[in-house]
Formats: sequence, structure tokens, C-alpha cells
Amino acid sequence: MGFPIDRPRRLRQREVFRRMVRETVVGVDDLIYPLFAVHGTGVAREVASMPGVFQYSVDRLVKEAAEVAALGIPAVILFGIPRVKDAAGSEASDDDGIIPRAVRALKDQVPDLAVITDVCLCEYTDHGHCGLVKDGVVQNDPTVERLVAEALAHARAGADMVAPSDMMDGRVGAIRRALDDAGFPDTPIMAYAAKYASGFYGPFRDAAQSTPQFGDRRGYQMDPANADEAIREVALDLEEGADIVMVKPAMPYLDIIRRVKDAFRRPLAAYQVSGEYAMLKAAARAGWLDEPRVAMESLTAIKRAGADLIITYYAKEAAGWLRRR
Ligand code: PBG
Repeated sequence: MGFPIDRPRRLRQREVFRRMVRETVVGVDDLIYPLFAVHGTGVAREVASMPGVFQYSVDRLVKEAAEVAALGIPAVILFGIPRVKDAAGSEASDDDGIIPRAVRALKDQVPDLAVITDVCLCEYTDHGHCGLVKDGVVQNDPTVERLVAEALAHARAGADMVAPSDMMDGRVGAIRRALDDAGFPDTPIMAYAAKYASGFYGPFRDAAQSTPQFGDRRGYQMDPANADEAIREVALDLEEGADIVMVKPAMPYLDIIRRVKDAFRRPLAAYQVSGEYAMLKAAARAGWLDEPRVAMESLTAIKRAGADLIITYYAKEAAGWLRRR
């Protein structure tokens, strides 16, 4: 065979044929929308480096979540900004902390929306690291205990799923055992399994006010140069009981998404992070890129690489674009 019998362009000539042979379709069910909760009432504060993304007080968060649900998006992932930050990240495990309050309100007022909570200490610590620090080093095992306490506080408030994002060793297993012991055997864990020490998290740290006050996260997050190590990280998290594993960031790590999917064939999420969003937004605002086109192309690429779910700040806009299609 071959040309002229083979003419791949035949099936590209008409939209109806393109639709029929399309291999990858992003749907609203694939999307998870990140939301940032703060204390107070009537607060809706736009994040400077993330146009369209806001910090909301719980009353406003509920309204936003209702809109998200009305668009057909199945889930949100919540991040919290505490009232006070301290060395231990105390508010993280407080039943009256920002996340438990937000979860209770959301489950009460938008019950069908799945509420996933990010489990990490960086938003709650005064030094901005994802764990307890001693002599300038993040301590693994004592941090795991704090993360367990945090995950339990979220589960008690009614979280539908918990998502540890700290990258401490052994935390998925510890959280799984604690949830089971506390009567939450059916609360799934979405593990940030292959999370890289990425410069693309910059805008998020404005949003969550979680920039490390000294050093960086290279002592716990993965080296961007490594791929085999991602396979090992994912294997460990699955052995420890992760229900969904995540690769983060997404677009610069499409090869990792593909390798993880091929190696494990398990539910896989990818996080299109703040910097990926900010790049597209900024270029679109400058008139340099066609925003709906490049945003949907990015989401399609992430899904084509092997992601089943995409956490994205574009979720609401994408749901709108998908509906109009
Ligand atoms: C918390 C956390 C971070 C992100 C998700 N969870 C920040 C970090 O690790 O510094 C980043 C998300 C984004 O950039 O959109 N550890």
C-alpha cells in the first residue's frame, strides 16, 4: 500500500469525518477545578498572577462551587489559607480550620459536587515548607503524623477524597491506615505521586501565600530531570493504597504521564499547574495566542498522553467552550 491508494487527508477533509475518527475527546467529566478558601465573609480577591482565579471566603466559595457544579464539572480541589501560620502548621489539622469549614459548607449547600482536599502543610507553616523543619531540613516522619491529622480533619468534615501533595515518603500508607481506623475506609486517596520541584508553581504560591521563606522544595519534590524515579514513586503510592495517582505539572511532563499510564493502567490525574495557566493567559491577553484554541489543545494533549483526569484552572472556561461546541 501507500500513496496514491493511501491518502490520509481523505478523513481530514470534512468535520464530520474528523469527528468520527477523533481518538481523544476531552469531556467535562475529566475536569477538576481548584479553589482557594480564606477566612472572612464577602471576600473575593483575584490572584494577580492568575487572572480569573480568586481567593474566596466560604460564603463566596459556595456560590462559586454552585456555578462549577452547574457547568457539569464533577469535582473541585480545595486549598486553604489559614488565619495564622506557625512552625507546625497548626490550623491544618484543626476541625475548625479553613478547609473543614469550607468542606462542611460545600457538602451542605452543593452536595453533588465532589470535594477533594489538598493535604499539605505549606499553606499553614510560617516558613512555607510542606513539613516540619529542624535545622533547616524538612523532617519526614514527624511530618507524616501531621499530614495524617490533617487528612482526618478533612474526612471528619465530610471531604469526598483527600489528596496529599507534600511528597513525604510513606504518607499515603499512613493516611490510608488512619482513615480506615477512623471509620473512613471508603474515602479515596488521590496521591500527588510524581510531583516535580517545578518553577511552574510560582503563581500558585501567590494564590496560597505559601512561598518557602528559605531554600526550596528540592529536598522532597522530584528532580525535573528524572523519569524512572517517577515510576518508582507511583509504584510506592499504589502499594500504599493510592486510588488515583497524579503527575504534576502536566504539559512539560507529558512523557511522564504516558509512561505512568503504560506502566500501571490505573486512574491517572495530571495537574495543569498555575504557571501553565499563567503562560497561556498572559499570551492570550497580549493577543499573541488564541486562548480557547490553545487551552483546549493543551487539555487534549494532556489527555492524549494518558491522563484520565485533569486538574486545571481552565475547568470553568473549558466547560463553557465544550458546551458551545
Ligand atoms: C502544595 C501544592 C502546591 C501546588 C499544589 N499543591 C505548591 C507547591 O508544591 O509549591 C501547586 C499547584 C499549582 O502550581 O497550580 N504543596
